[in-house]
Amino acid sequence: MNGLTWRTLLSLVLAAAAVASPTKRADYRIKQTVNAPSYWVQQSSAPEDHVIRLRIGLPQPNFHLLEEAVYAVSDPMHRSYGKHLSKEEVEQLIAPHDASLDAVNEWLAEYGLQEEHIERSPARDWVIINIPVGLAEDMLDTTYSVWKNAKTDETMVRTTAYSLPASLHSHIETVQPTTMFATWSNFKAGYIIDDDFVDFPSFDSTPGAKASFAPAVNSIAAATTYPPVDASCQVNVTLSCLRQIYNISDYMPDASLNNSIATAGYLEEFANFEDLQSFYALELPEAVGTNFSVVSISGGLNNQSLEEAGAEANLDVQFAYGLAWPINATYYTTGGRPPFVPDLSTTENTNEPYNDWLDYVLALDEVPLVISTSYGEHEQTIPEDYARRACASLAQLAARGVTLTFSSGDNGVGDGEIDPESHTCYSNDGSDTYKFLPAFPASCPFVTAVGGTTIVNGLPEVAVSRFFSGSGFSDYFERPEYQADAVQAYIDAMPEGANEGLFNTTGRGYPDIAALGDYFLIYLSGTPRRIGGTSASSPAFAAVIALLNDARLKAGLSPLGFLNPLIYSLNGYGFNDITVGNSTGCGTTGFNCTPGWDPVTGFGTPNFGLLKDYVLSLE
Ligand SMILES: *[C@@H]1O[C@H](CO)[C@@H](O)[C@H](O)[C@H]1NC(C)=O
Ligand SMILES: *[C@@H]1O[C@H](CO)[C@@H](O)[C@H](O)[C@H]1NC(C)=O
Ligand SMILES: *[C@@H]1O[C@H](CO)[C@@H](O)[C@H](O)[C@H]1NC(C)=O
Ligand SMILES: *[C@@H]1O[C@H](CO)[C@@H](O)[C@H](O)[C@H]1NC(C)=O
Ligand SMILES: *[C@@H]1O[C@H](CO)[C@@H](O)[C@H](O)[C@H]1NC(C)=O
Ligand SMILES: *[C@@H]1O[C@H](CO)[C@@H](O)[C@H](O)[C@H]1NC(C)=O
Ligand SMILES: *[C@@H]1O[C@H](CO)[C@@H](O)[C@H](O)[C@H]1NC(C)=O
Ligand SMILES: *[C@@H]1O[C@H](CO)[C@@H](O)[C@H](O)[C@H]1NC(C)=O
Repeated sequence: MNGLTWRTLLSLVLAAAAVASPTKRADYRIKQTVNAPSYWVQQSSAPEDHVIRLRIGLPQPNFHLLEEAVYAVSDPMHRSYGKHLSKEEVEQLIAPHDASLDAVNEWLAEYGLQEEHIERSPARDWVIINIPVGLAEDMLDTTYSVWKNAKTDETMVRTTAYSLPASLHSHIETVQPTTMFATWSNFKAGYIIDDDFVDFPSFDSTPGAKASFAPAVNSIAAATTYPPVDASCQVNVTLSCLRQIYNISDYMPDASLNNSIATAGYLEEFANFEDLQSFYALELPEAVGTNFSVVSISGGLNNQSLEEAGAEANLDVQFAYGLAWPINATYYTTGGRPPFVPDLSTTENTNEPYNDWLDYVLALDEVPLVISTSYGEHEQTIPEDYARRACASLAQLAARGVTLTFSSGDNGVGDGEIDPESHTCYSNDGSDTYKFLPAFPASCPFVTAVGGTTIVNGLPEVAVSRFFSGSGFSDYFERPEYQADAVQAYIDAMPEGANEGLFNTTGRGYPDIAALGDYFLIYLSGTPRRIGGTSASSPAFAAVIALLNDARLKAGLSPLGFLNPLIYSLNGYGFNDITVGNSTGCGTTGFNCTPGWDPVTGFGTPNFGLLKDYVLSLE
């Protein structure tokens, strides 16, 4: 904050209050009112000298042009396919009008906030100020409180409504943290760890034995041809299993190309270097001695003590980087997590590490070509205007040729079983409607959402059921054109009245595709462990895309970038269709897998060999 202390700002608050307050309220209008999710309980008023980091989003009047550009460069049938935009081109397309910049500057100046007090995103579409709560309350005509999460005991400073001068409503799209109750921690794709290797199906342990799998469950599945796979893959999913099942075979990427893969970690999940070496010794001996880079954002820590190794972080780096090895690999550790402790001297960690990560990555000249993220939140806990802005940031990465994969979640259609008391499957829009709860960012149309599968009694794969692959339909983002036919076909084929009123029939459906997601054999704190979750599926799928990028880069072609237009145009070709299993929850049987796209496993799991030949044919 460039030397400006909260004390200085506090004196600004008082001065501003003395001068501006009496006259200005009349022209204020409410900008947003929300209902806090029922598990956030209001505690006390917020200390007015507590410093918060306020993000002010200015409208992006030409966002529709950016969106057009994203689809043009990502649609394999378009003449601009692969001609990704530069950072500068993207920034020009999302820049706000000068009139908005001027209006907001003028407003900030009324409170003594000049250019030296503010940070701006490279495109100038965000203004960020660190100010005391008292000043924010004055500027937004609101009252902040300390709220506590009854489930997790996290606390944070929020309000349920805020206002802006009427003349600014068209120049400011959103201001947060105000009404946003998401924390990115509730919905972290929940992984399950097995502590022992005892209680699992018997298999043929003869070295080199291949599975003689049971006959396929139905004719569509039978039509999917899998190569033979080691029988042990039913018990321990290893890098070798993924190579066999997904027809990667011994394909080797070229380390000298400018190819890259990254995974994003939050909430003090540390990827342990030593565990990676143990993992490589077990599953990829030729990689022993190689490494990944760690980038710390917003004070993200990187504690390398073995006990602090994160299950999620280790899973991500071991499988994403192991499968993509030796492609250049980066792990992002982003700081910021509850609990918030009212502390006068430090800026509140806004519990929005995801936005800090986006700011960082968008400012890079070169962004990793594939990035996997295994975190998310119920869409409804993020105010729609803010979710749209976050999704618009993901669209900027898509325009620049970055593939973003997100796990679809591990709680089926909502948040586990229906529970009226904790309002688990109820809307928080005030109407308290019983419904499925879609997840964000999986619901953003510019990312590829990855569901989970498993092998039970041999191939073909089925939707995972030890936990349920997250599935659903967005309430914020309408169904994008690329998936219109595939999703409509699924909805049309649903039994009459199934899940009626519980999901949004016009929203973006997810996941888009799937990958194995259970019994992954990793190293954690010095011990081999098995772990599952769609948080395994996303990094595994991301690595397959990094390998496809390798094939394209070797041939002098562009990286794949935003995948969905390509995936849906293939209409199932290049993917193993998953037709058995379901995604349940909220007291219902949820959605079923079907032939073709379904909201449990999308189009299914990748067949690298077929996809490679196809993407090499795309100029
Ligand atoms: C699974 O992995 C564990 C840990 O390395 C090992 O003890 C066990 O024998 C493996 N099981 C199979 C079937 O490969
Ligand atoms: C890799 O990128 C760097 C920096 O952009 C560039 O100088 C170099 O030529 C690239 N190498 C290859 C093999 O494309
Ligand atoms: C990996 O990188 C870290 C940080 O630079 C270093 O401490 C560690 O020794 C490296 N491990 C290997 C095997 O190179
Ligand atoms: C990956 O590439 C970046 C940028 O070129 C470089 O700084 C980093 O050291 C590389 N990481 C590894 C693990 O090779
Ligand atoms: C980090 O690791 C050290 C041991 O190297 C441990 O003592 C310490 O408690 C850890 N810190 C955090 C914040 O976890
Ligand atoms: C359903 O989704 C559409 C966008 O496709 C949205 O406009 C509408 O408000 C949503 N309905 C509900 C009940 O959330
Ligand atoms: C859902 O799938 C699981 C596992 O495949 C199966 O046991 C269960 O019967 C299925 N439920 C429904 C309602 O089809
Ligand atoms: C694996 O990919 C190759 C092309 O690289 C293809 O010829 C082969 O049919 C594929 N195998 C299966 C089982 O799909």
